[in-house]
Amino acid sequence: MTRPDPHSCWIPQNGTIKHIHFHLTADFKRQIFSGYAIYDFDKPLSDTLSLDTRKLNIESVASTDSHEKKLEWKLADETFLGQTLTISGVKGLRALAIHFSTSPDSDALQWLGPEQTAGKKHPFVLSQCQAILARSIFPCQDSPGVRFTYDAEFAVPTGFKAVMAAKSLGSEETKQGTLWRFHMKHAIPSYLFALAIGNIAAEQIGKKSWIYAEPEVLKDAAWEFAGVDSMLERAEAMFGEYIWDRFDLLVMPPSFPFGGMENPTLTFLTPTLIAGDRSLVNVVVHELAHSWTGNLVTNATWEDFWLNEGWTVWAERRILERIEGEESAHLHAVNGRHALDEAIADFGKDSPLTRLKTDLKGHDPDDVYSQIPYEKGYLFLVAIERAVGREKFGGFLKKYIDRYKFQSLTTDGFLRFLKKELPEAYDKVDVETWVYGNGMPADVPAFQSKLIDDVMDVVRKWKAGQRDIQRAVKSWDVTQKRLFLSELPLKLSHEDISTLDKLFNLADSRNSELKVPWLCKAAASSYEPAYEKIRELLGEVGRGKFLKPLYKALHENPDTKKLAADIFGEVKDRYHHLSRVAIERILEE
Ligand code: BES
Ligand code: ZN
Repeated sequence: MTRPDPHSCWIPQNGTIKHIHFHLTADFKRQIFSGYAIYDFDKPLSDTLSLDTRKLNIESVASTDSHEKKLEWKLADETFLGQTLTISGVKGLRALAIHFSTSPDSDALQWLGPEQTAGKKHPFVLSQCQAILARSIFPCQDSPGVRFTYDAEFAVPTGFKAVMAAKSLGSEETKQGTLWRFHMKHAIPSYLFALAIGNIAAEQIGKKSWIYAEPEVLKDAAWEFAGVDSMLERAEAMFGEYIWDRFDLLVMPPSFPFGGMENPTLTFLTPTLIAGDRSLVNVVVHELAHSWTGNLVTNATWEDFWLNEGWTVWAERRILERIEGEESAHLHAVNGRHALDEAIADFGKDSPLTRLKTDLKGHDPDDVYSQIPYEKGYLFLVAIERAVGREKFGGFLKKYIDRYKFQSLTTDGFLRFLKKELPEAYDKVDVETWVYGNGMPADVPAFQSKLIDDVMDVVRKWKAGQRDIQRAVKSWDVTQKRLFLSELPLKLSHEDISTLDKLFNLADSRNSELKVPWLCKAAASSYEPAYEKIRELLGEVGRGKFLKPLYKALHENPDTKKLAADIFGEVKDRYHHLSRVAIERILEE
């Protein structure tokens, strides 16, 4: 019998989870969740059932009928995919219950001490399940090809608020603490299961949107993301109706490993987006777009990840275009191209990992995470869009969402649909090379804008030795400054590093998208005055996008190699598993 997903033990013929009821208690002292989950299946089970787990402590498995018959189970040896839980004697059952607890080093969960929060008084726990970490919170068929609805009850210490990427049904005081209830009525894949517990306050910022955050950052966050309604309006015009009822935002403590995570009804965000000038809200637009491309139409496996991210970047830039104008959207695309070229250079342009459709057997999808599915996927879709015209492409998009909503789709499935609906795209664009080829095809869409030209003018001047550029850069926005910094080499003279700092006030910038590229140059150039700033940032921020290049720059410079190892040794326990593993790999090279 075949497994459709190389990263899950799920075998559809044996039965697929349709609904889960969770009852879990959060123990902040032991840093674990314990309790049970009841699973309903789509059909009577065959003899044995296999579920994905990782670092879980399984206590018992039982039928849920009146006999509550204990069932035999065993855990297989550990691989990079965790441990398969095999339950036997389940023939004919439609439901079963598993009692279990998580481990303090559950890969999905981050238990933060008070010092890691904005308020510094209360602990906090958060989850990040994408790509294959849900199995470290509860046994499941941890494949994006499996969708289930769920109910959840979380018992937490009195005074703590639990939030989930699901409808909140309110809370109740009990002897043990507070019991929070949730319901997710739409079938979601396991990677979109998400929760956070802590000292969390909330404020309304839009028709369907509240912002959740620690009280200390709530006000700034509410201001930063106040544009949420106009994003939603543009997104609906492009995609069709928003079906998730709510689009709430949760600002995490700084150790959250991503910029944003599209957890349904409740997007998780890094506080590094709160730059004080709304310059990084494209991340919110991106996560919103996932409500269609990803959360409605889902990649069937992580080998088809570009379907989630390529489409979402495309949508993000189309929405941005409506809000900020075409010039600005093109500027974002050029920054994306920079990131893409870097990612391809990192893998090597002949590496099969530079393909859109990847072969990930034997690879952990999180180990090969890069900008390629995002930016190459985006450019592929732009190539098709330009070939058939915007109007036709827009119609295709709506039809695509409607045809595949609440389904999981493979790359091949997508290409068949494309061929049927937009045959002329196939004539004009070399689809096979884009999807199955290494590196970049010959005719990649290019972008033009005055905003880009302005930057490139100054880049030329700078490279010709001119430093008197204050006037030329005065009106630049953050995205232009980002482009400028990525056009300059990593290694610069100390004088130039300091000139850049004076020009854009980078050492004390609240904007990590500017500060980090500058710190990378400082690290690569052995610019000692910045070392303390580097240490500070690496000790506070957990977002992989910032940690990875900064550790890489430190590690590759013999002068700062030891500094990288020292800092990492000191602060690594504050990082989410995903960031920690990524840095370990960099420092081992
Ligand atoms: N879904 C991703 C985050 C993710 C991907 C987590 C793969 C785990 C595995 C999210 O939508 C995302 O792409 N976030 C980006 C921001 C975006 C603007 C490109 C990020 O966090 O940098
Ligand atoms: Zn994304």
